[in-house]
Order: sequence, then structure tokens, then C-alpha cells
Amino acid sequence: MSDHDRDRCTVGVVGTGYVGLTTAACLAHLGHRVTGVDIDARKVAVLRRGDVPIAEPGLDTLVADGLATRRLTFTTDLTALAEADVVVLCVPTPTGPDGTADLRAYDAAVDAAAPVLAAHCVVAVKSTVPVGTTTRTARRLGRPAVSNPEFLREGHAAHDFLHPDRIVVGGSDPDAASRVASLYDGLTAPVVHTDPVSSELAKYASNAFLALKVSYVNVLADLCERLGADVVDVTDVMRLDPRIGSTFLSPGPGWGGSCLPKDTRALLHTATEAGADVALLADAVAANERQHERMARKVRQAVTGSPEGSLHGVRLGLLGVTFKAGTDDVRDSPALAVAQRLAAAGAVLTGYDPGVDRDGCPGTHGLVQLVDDVTLVAKDAAGLVLLTEWPQFRDLDWAHLAELTDRATIVDTRNLLDPPTLTRAGFTYFGLGR
Ligand code: UGA
Repeated sequence: MSDHDRDRCTVGVVGTGYVGLTTAACLAHLGHRVTGVDIDARKVAVLRRGDVPIAEPGLDTLVADGLATRRLTFTTDLTALAEADVVVLCVPTPTGPDGTADLRAYDAAVDAAAPVLAAHCVVAVKSTVPVGTTTRTARRLGRPAVSNPEFLREGHAAHDFLHPDRIVVGGSDPDAASRVASLYDGLTAPVVHTDPVSSELAKYASNAFLALKVSYVNVLADLCERLGADVVDVTDVMRLDPRIGSTFLSPGPGWGGSCLPKDTRALLHTATEAGADVALLADAVAANERQHERMARKVRQAVTGSPEGSLHGVRLGLLGVTFKAGTDDVRDSPALAVAQRLAAAGAVLTGYDPGVDRDGCPGTHGLVQLVDDVTLVAKDAAGLVLLTEWPQFRDLDWAHLAELTDRATIVDTRNLLDPPTLTRAGFTYFGLGR
């Protein structure tokens, strides 16, 4: 056994969703022996074959390599965790009806693992959990638990895991915290050691700040329209200030996905319970809802000449339904939130999205008829609405699409397209904040 191998751990990863599977495959890539445990027998069977059920670039190769070197295995059998030096909890924590995180799956996983774990095993909490959960987990298990949040973007999860901005370990037991930090040996990133509460809060604070930033830029886009400024120029100026930062300054139909909405709501709930001033956070959430409404009114204005105009029976073509480009995920998608408002005004919606296929997207059923050819979206449409910033939309044959439409009107809620190109192609173009 080489020194390198001696330093490597036996790791159990509980939950093989996009966070758990990425964690398991990347830790195996770093040389650890990793077992991914999931209660979903079908998913485990699929993973054992080397099939990756989610669209994450590079993940299939990492899983295939892990299986080939036998450093990565999958099972439904929790007793496999008996071997583990570290168990990483990656169980989903969805939002319950009152905005709090639903910890039933998490608690069930903790209770099921408890009798199996070896005496020396340390538990790392990677699930996004309410502040205080890591300490509660340690008490429940009678062993050290360390908060170790993830900062993985969907569509970039494997890349983000292997090229992190920061690694956060929040634990009150220094040995346990060091053990968890050592999982990442070989990666270049600052390792921040904190208490568990600060680590848990840092995760929520980061996602909520990103949400605030996008809500701010969306409000700014509205102001630009009212004042005759161009939000693209305004944000280009802002991006050059390193104190502001260059990303998360693109206005759009609102922020969505499986994380920002859930985590912002959960933080809002935690802060309210703690008696903190939540006005800023609450308004970022409310501004996001208003943004969906504002986009629907913008489309109505463009198509009917009035923000309240009836869309009864009007055919609209949607470009993009996922919550952002580079994913097949429509959970809490702002595109669908806008679509719902358009449908409520009577519109008949057809949609095309390069990330999802016609039948494989139950989130759109009954709302948008998905087609797998973009020309079918344009055909006889009274207007097109670009809702997701897929780069390939830039290269569509816009002149041909304009000919197919009934009225060549397009609302580009992502400012993705080049307005002169669209105008030349025959479209009446409406961007956002310009
Ligand atoms: C987010 C965070 O970015 C990750 O750091 C975090 O680890 C992850 O949640 C999580 O908690 O697991 P993700 O959900 O993949 O990642 O989504 P983002 O890339 O953050 O985008 C969120 C939303 O904001 C999308 O709807 C996107 O279109 C929108 N957005 C983003 C804008 O409208 N404008 C921008 O300039 C940037």
C-alpha cells in the first residue's frame, strides 16, 4: 500500500441524487473507497450498470471510472456503512408546506444508519439542513457530526466539486472536522473551519445572497425600462467593480431551481423564528414572484398591445422550460411560473427545450405542449417567448422562424439574443430592461 493509498478513506455516501452521486463519484476519483447507498433499488441497479440518470457533464465518466477501479460501488444495503471511516449524508431536504425543511427522509436515514456505524466513524452532513441540525444529529448518533455543505451548481456539479471555491467544515470536534476536511486532500481551495451553526448558515446565506442579487438586477431592469436606460450597459459597468463581482447580474424571468427558492424560504423561516429583521429577504422572495407576473404582462403587452390584454386562444411558443440552461430540471422553474400566468390569461402554449424531451417532463404536462422541433413552436404562433438562456438559441434560423409565425413578435426574457439580428430577420424584438 502506497502512502497515498494509506491516506485514503472508506466513505459511505447516503443518497445518490445529484449531490450524493457527484460526491460519491468525485471522492472515488480522489482515491477514496466509496459506497453510495440509496433506498431506491431501481436507481441503484441503474447506477451499478454505469448509467447516470441525471444530466451532469463529466459525471458518467467519473462513475464509469469508479466502477472500473472498484473504488465506487452502489447498494441499497445500509449495513455496507459498517466499513466507513466517514459517512456523508446527502439525503434530500425538500420544503414542507410551512416553508421549513422537511427532515423526514434525513432523520430516517440518520436513524437507519445509527446502529450500523463503526465506533470511529464520523458523520458529515452535506444535505442542506436547518441551522442546529448537525449538532442535533451528533446527539442523536452519540458521535461527532460535521457540517460540510456543498456549493455545486446543477449542470456543473462534477466540475464544481473538483474545482471548489471553498471547502467548509463546521464541527465542534477538531479531529472529526480534520477527518472530513482530509476527504478533499488534493483539491486546491481554502478550507474554512467553523462551528457547525456558522457552517450551516453559510450555505443558506450564500444561496440567499445569490437570490437577492438576481432580484436586485430584475428590479433594476424594470427601472431601466422606465428611465430609458439599457440594463446590459448598466450591469456591464457594475461587473467591473470587484466588490460587486461579475456574475449573477443578468436579469431574467426570476430565479428558480431546486435550491435557491427552497433555501431562501427556509432561511426566511429560520430568521423569522429567531426574531431577526427579515424584510430584505422577504422582499427578495416577493420581488421574484412579481418578476414572473411582470414577464407575463410584458408578453401580453407585446402580443396584444396592453399588459392586461386577453390571450384567449392565442398561440404562444416558448423557448426553454428548464430553470436555467444546461439542465433538464424544471423544478421551481421561472419559465413555468411565467407559463402558468400566460395560460391563466387564456394562451395556448407550445414549448421547445433542448434539455428535455417531449414525454420526459411531467412538470410541464397540462400546461405546455412540448415539441422536439423548434419550427413547430414558431408555426402560426402570435409570439415567441424566450425563457431559458440556452446558447444554441442564438444560432436558430430566425428568418425562417419569423416566416412560420403568425405575428413575428419575440420577448427575450434573458437578453440572450442580438436585437439587430432579430430585427433583420423580421421580428419585433422586446428584451428586458433595454
Ligand atoms: C445554486 C447555487 O448557485 C449553488 O452554489 C448551490 O450549491 C446550489 O444552488 C445548491 O444549493 O445545491 P443552482 O440551483 O444550480 O445552484 O442554480 P444557479 O446556477 O444558482 O441559478 C439559480 C437561478 O438564478 C436560475 O433560475 C438562474 O437562471 C437564475 N439566474 C442566475 C439569473 O436569473 N440571473 C443570473 O445572473 C444568474
